Parts: sequence; structure tokens; C-alpha cells
Amino acid sequence: MEKHGIKKYHILTFGCQMNVYDSEVLAGYLENMGYVHTEKEEEADVLIINTCAVRKKAEEKVFSRLGRLRSLKEKKQEMIMILWGCMVQQEHVAQKIKEKFPFVDLVGGTQSLGRFPELMEKARISPRTVLALETGEERENLPIKRGHQIRAWVPISHGCSNFCSYCIVPYVRGAEKSRPPENIINEVKTLVDNGYKEITLLGQNVNSYYGRRLKENIDFADLLHTLDRLEGRFLIRYMTSHPRDFSEKIIRTIQQGQKICEHFHLPLQSGSDNILKLMNRGYSRDYYLDLIKKIRELIRDSAITTDIIVGFPGEEEKDFEDTLDLLEKIRFDAAFTFVYSPRKGTAATEMKRQVPADIKKKRIVALNEIQDRISQEINQLLLGTEQLVLVEGKSKTNPNLYTGRTRTNKIVHFPAKEDLLGKFVIVEITEAKPWTLTGDFKNIF
Ligand code: 5AD
Ligand code: SF4
Repeated sequence: MEKHGIKKYHILTFGCQMNVYDSEVLAGYLENMGYVHTEKEEEADVLIINTCAVRKKAEEKVFSRLGRLRSLKEKKQEMIMILWGCMVQQEHVAQKIKEKFPFVDLVGGTQSLGRFPELMEKARISPRTVLALETGEERENLPIKRGHQIRAWVPISHGCSNFCSYCIVPYVRGAEKSRPPENIINEVKTLVDNGYKEITLLGQNVNSYYGRRLKENIDFADLLHTLDRLEGRFLIRYMTSHPRDFSEKIIRTIQQGQKICEHFHLPLQSGSDNILKLMNRGYSRDYYLDLIKKIRELIRDSAITTDIIVGFPGEEEKDFEDTLDLLEKIRFDAAFTFVYSPRKGTAATEMKRQVPADIKKKRIVALNEIQDRISQEINQLLLGTEQLVLVEGKSKTNPNLYTGRTRTNKIVHFPAKEDLLGKFVIVEITEAKPWTLTGDFKNIF
């Protein structure tokens, strides 16, 4: 293909949904410049790694990938190699890359997204690595090449000002800033007109949307309500919520809405009041229990999922038991569990009483065992029931299976011959595992 002058790009994305979205913007820029996408990294004329900084493991993966890419770049000198995103927004990481991996052409932080074409041009002609670590960039009206036909991500705010003591996000994505409501509403309208069936609103702290720094007096519940009333059949999801900012008004808006899914992802992080305080989370276990109670009272068929960190500095056996106790009391549909990973520059890194690695490991194994059992028990209750599923595509591991999700965000696989992509269908559940359901296709609904 190259001899015909068609240039290709490949993007490798690590981390959260916001990064997936940022990669879609990078792809949008590249397509505008005439590049076409390739699945094969060795074919790429522009290779981007969009990085994550939230845990050390994500960073290590990038460094080992870079080691392997060195020889590819040696063979193909004209290839433009770009490291993008949260990990490289950290000054010390950017410097390390410049020193140890000088073959990288451009190092760009999340907040330089709006300047991508200009930076790429600079990188193309510069003999040295170009660094772009500015902060506070405007992020409206960026191009986009969406990676999915049915599901679309729409950021409603950028950055985070919470400074949970373990978290790097406020340092790499900057202060929280909400997008103007009319831009969000227009974007969602256009997506629905173009056939998208599921819109996921994104923000590091999505439900604290207050049009912060905006003239409009509109909060997250108002925004949800407005989007819910748009014409068309589609679903609304949002992530990630902060329990502290999850008002009763939001719950009631979801209860009364037609399109807003009954799935609540509310990162608990710890079940111990001591640890929650050290984490700077701004709520107690009683507050959290109350919030769950309110949600379950108002919305009977809801699913609640969470994030939990084990081995935060100072976490004693008693604190960990408090977390296990909440797992049993609340019975989450699912939990994403993490071993605490010290991040340079965050408050928790400096705290005394860091928990030894073997104890962290033991705790996460115990936690996962309990949660897997609970998830399994909850999903088993769905056996034999008929569930409404939005069909998203084919299963990654088996092309004979369709995959979709219930409104409560449970993944469902089922075989079917007809073309069901983007359809709402009824599936009878025949098998239930902690993370997925399997069933038989009944009819389009
Ligand atoms: N170590 C471990 N887990 C972390 N998370 C955020 N920062 C860290 C860290 N330093 C987890 C939190 C958050 C999820 C996205 O990642 O649970 O909710
Ligand atoms: Fe990190 Fe806390 Fe902000 Fe979430 S709310 S991105 S955990 S600082």
C-alpha cells in the first residue's frame, strides 16, 4: 500500500474510557490528515501509544513495549513514534523517555490534545524528541473517528479536583472543568441521529457536573433529564461517579427517566472509616450504606458495582475486615479490585505504614474470592429470566456469538443467525458466571 502513497496509523490504548475517547480524537486528526488505520503496528507510519498512569503496572507495560519497539523503529526510521497521555504528562516520566528512549519522536500529555497536528509536524522534522506538557488546554470542537458503531463516549467534564490521596489523575488531567451543556446536548443529538444506541457520559467525577465555571445553572441530574427527553431509542450510561456527589435528585432523575440505565458504579475504595479519611474521599461507611439503601429503595431492579483498593498505607487487618464486611452487607453485582500502587507526587506515597506486598496480595485474593461468590449468586438469580439486551457486536473469542449488555450492564453472550447489531433483543438466560451471562435469543424487542 505504501508505494501508492497511503500512510497508515496504529494506536495502542491503555487505561480508562477517557483514554479510549482521546484515542478516537487522535484517530480523527490522523484521518483528517489522510492517514488510514491499520491493525498491524509494524505497518504503521505513525504509531501512537496512549498511556495510563493510574497504577505502576500500566506504566511498566508501556516501558516494556517501548523496549520491543526500538528495533521496529531502527528498521523503519521514517516512522513517527508518539507516546501520549497520562503517564507522560508526568514530568519525571517524560524526561526518562527522552533520555532512555530517544527514538520516540513526540511525547504529548493529555492536555495538549487540541494541538496534536502542529505537534506532529514539529516531531516529524525535529531530530530530537518533542515534549508537549502544557496544561489547561481547551478541548472543544476536536475531530473524532469513533471506534464503535453502536456505543459512543461523550466527555461532559475533564480533569478532577478531588485529590483522593492515592490518585494521580488530578496531576495529569488537571483541574475539573465541565463542558458547556449545549455542546454536550448537540453532540448526543448528532450521535443518535447517526444511529448510535448507547451514549456513555464521561468524567473523572461525572456526577459533580455543575456546569462548574459555566454561567449556566445546570447540574448532573438536569443534564441527564435533558438528554433523557431527546427523541430516539437509545440508552444513557455515565462514569465514573463519586459517591459523595451522588444526590437524591440524581437517583430520582434516573428513576423517572426512560433511557438512563439502572446501573450504578460507585467506587467505595475502602469500607473502613479510618482509611476513607486517609484517602480523602469525603464520605463515611455509614453515608455510603445510606446511599445504597436509597438507590435500592427507589430503583428496585438496579445493579451496583464498585472499585476497591486494598493495602492502602495504614490499612490494618481490622480495616480490611471492615471492607469485607461491607462487601457482604451491600452485595455488589461486581467489584473491580486493585492493589494500592504508590504514585509519585500523590499524598499517600509519603504516608508511613506502607503495607508489605505479600499482605496486599493475600488481601486481594481473599477479597476477590468473596466477591466472585457474591457476583455468582446474584447472577444465578437471573437463570431462566428474559432480559432486554442491546446487541453491541460479536464476541471477541467466538464469532458465532453475539454480545450485548442488559440495562444493568451485565454482559450477555448468545448465538443467533440474523443480523442483530444495534438491535434491542430479548434473551433468555441459561448460564450465569460472575462476569458474564449466556442465553438464548428470543426475539427483537
Ligand atoms: N493504586 C491502586 N488503585 C488505584 N486506583 C486509582 N489510583 C490507584 C492507585 N494509586 C483505582 C481506584 C479507582 C480506579 C479507577 O483505580 O479504585 O477508582
Ligand atoms: Fe482520582 Fe479521586 Fe478524582 Fe477519581 S475522584 S479521578 S479517584 S482523585
